[in-house]
Amino acid sequence: MPLTVVITRQIARYTRAGYRETQQALGELNGIIEETITGERVVQAFVREKTTVAQFAVTNQRLKKVALRTRIVTSFMGPMMNMVNNFGLAVVASAGGWLAVQSLATVGEIAAFVNYAGRLGRPLNMIAQLFTTIQSALAGAERFFELLDETPETDAADALALEHIRGHVRLRDVNFGYQAQVPVLKNVSLEAAPGETVALVGPTGAGKTTIANLLTRFYDIQSGQIEIDDRDVVTIKKEALRRKIGLVLQDNFLFAATVMENIRYGRLDASDEQVCAAARLANAEMFIHRLPHGYQTVLTERGNNLSQGQRQLLAIARAILADPEILILDEATSNVDTRTEKHLQEALLNLMKGRTSFVIAHRLSTIRDADQVLVINGGEIIERGTHESLLAQKGFYHNLYLSQFKGSATAAS
Ligand SMILES: Nc1ncnc2c1ncn2[C@@H]1O[C@H](COP(=O)(O)OP(=O)(O)O)[C@@H](O)[C@H]1O
Ligand SMILES: [Mg+2]
Repeated sequence: MPLTVVITRQIARYTRAGYRETQQALGELNGIIEETITGERVVQAFVREKTTVAQFAVTNQRLKKVALRTRIVTSFMGPMMNMVNNFGLAVVASAGGWLAVQSLATVGEIAAFVNYAGRLGRPLNMIAQLFTTIQSALAGAERFFELLDETPETDAADALALEHIRGHVRLRDVNFGYQAQVPVLKNVSLEAAPGETVALVGPTGAGKTTIANLLTRFYDIQSGQIEIDDRDVVTIKKEALRRKIGLVLQDNFLFAATVMENIRYGRLDASDEQVCAAARLANAEMFIHRLPHGYQTVLTERGNNLSQGQRQLLAIARAILADPEILILDEATSNVDTRTEKHLQEALLNLMKGRTSFVIAHRLSTIRDADQVLVINGGEIIERGTHESLLAQKGFYHNLYLSQFKGSATAAS
C-alpha cells in the first residue's frame, strides 16, 4: 500500500504538470488559429502565409510533444500498479511460505491472506488510475476557473440610475494609467458646459482616446474625479451612464445583419420610420438606397461590403437614433477622403446639435468651430483656448497647426 501511494503521487505530480502544459499549448494554438483567420487579409497582403503556417506548426509540434509525453507517463500507471500488486503478492507468498515451513502459520491461513491481499490490491489500482484522469480534469478546470474568477463589471451598491441629464461634464485632477505604475493622464482637468463642443487635439499617444475611455468608464481612474451634472460618475450605474453617452469611433463595428438592424442597434425599440429619419440626418440615406436591397441589404461580417465612409455614416445614424446627451467622436472622420468628409461633417453637425460633444480630431474643420480646444501632450493638457486664441499664442498648437493642418486647411475650407 505505501508503495502504491508513493508511486501514484509521483506519477500524478508529473502528469498534472503535463496536462497543464498541454492545456496551455492547446489554448495558444487555438489563439493562433483565431487570430490568423480574423487577420487573413493582412496575412495575405504581406505574403505571410508560409510564416503563419510555420508558426502554427511550431506550436502544434509543442502541443504534440507535451501531450504525447503526458499520455505515455499516464499509460505507465496501469502496468506499474500491476507490478506493485504482484510484487506485494510475491512478498506475502514468500513470507507465508517461510512461516508455514517454521510451522508458525497454517497453509490455509497463508492462502486466505494471499487472497485478501489480491482483493485489496485491485480497488487500490483502480483508484490510482482514476487519479490520473482526475489530474487531467483538474488541469482543464484550473483554466476554466481562472475565467470564472474574473470579477464582472460591478457598480457600487448605492449607485444610482440617471434620469434626465443636461450633459455638464467635469474632470478634476484626473490621474490614470492602464497599469498603475505607468501614468498616462496626469492632473487632467476640464469642464464642458451642456451643449458645448470640446475638441481634443494632440499627437498620437497623447492620451486623447484614454479620456474617452474614462468618460464611458471602461476604466476607473486612480485619483481625481469625473462628474456629470455635478455627480461623481462612480455613483452612477454604468449602464445608465453609457446610455447617455454616444460613441462614434474611427472604425465602428457593424454586425452581419441588415442595414436596418445595424442602425436600430442604437435604440432597439425604434420604428422603421425613426431608423430612416436617423439615416437621413446622417446623410446615409442616399447610399443606402443605392444598395441592392436598400435597408434590407445584409452586411457581411463587420460590414466589409461597405466603404469606410459608408460604415461611418451608419455609425453616425446609429448614434443619432440612440439620442445621447453626451457625444464622443474619436477620430470619426480621419479615415475618409475629403469629399466624403464634407458629407460626414454635415452628418456630424446634425448629430452634435444640442449635445455636449467631445471631438477628437486630426482635421482642422472639426476643430475650428469648437467652443474649446484642449491641446494634450504626454497625458497633460498643455494649452487651452479657442482655435484663434491658441493660434495667437504661437505655442504647441500653432506648431501642430503648421505641420498638420496647413495643407488641409485650404482643402477643408
Ligand atoms: N489598453 C491599453 N493598455 C495599456 N496602455 C494603453 C492602452 N491604451 C492606450 N495605452 C497607452 O496610453 C497612451 C495614450 O493612448 P491613447 O489615449 O490611445 O492615445 P491617443 O491620444 O492617440 O488617442 C499611449 O502611450 C498608449 O500606449
Ligand atoms: Mg486615439
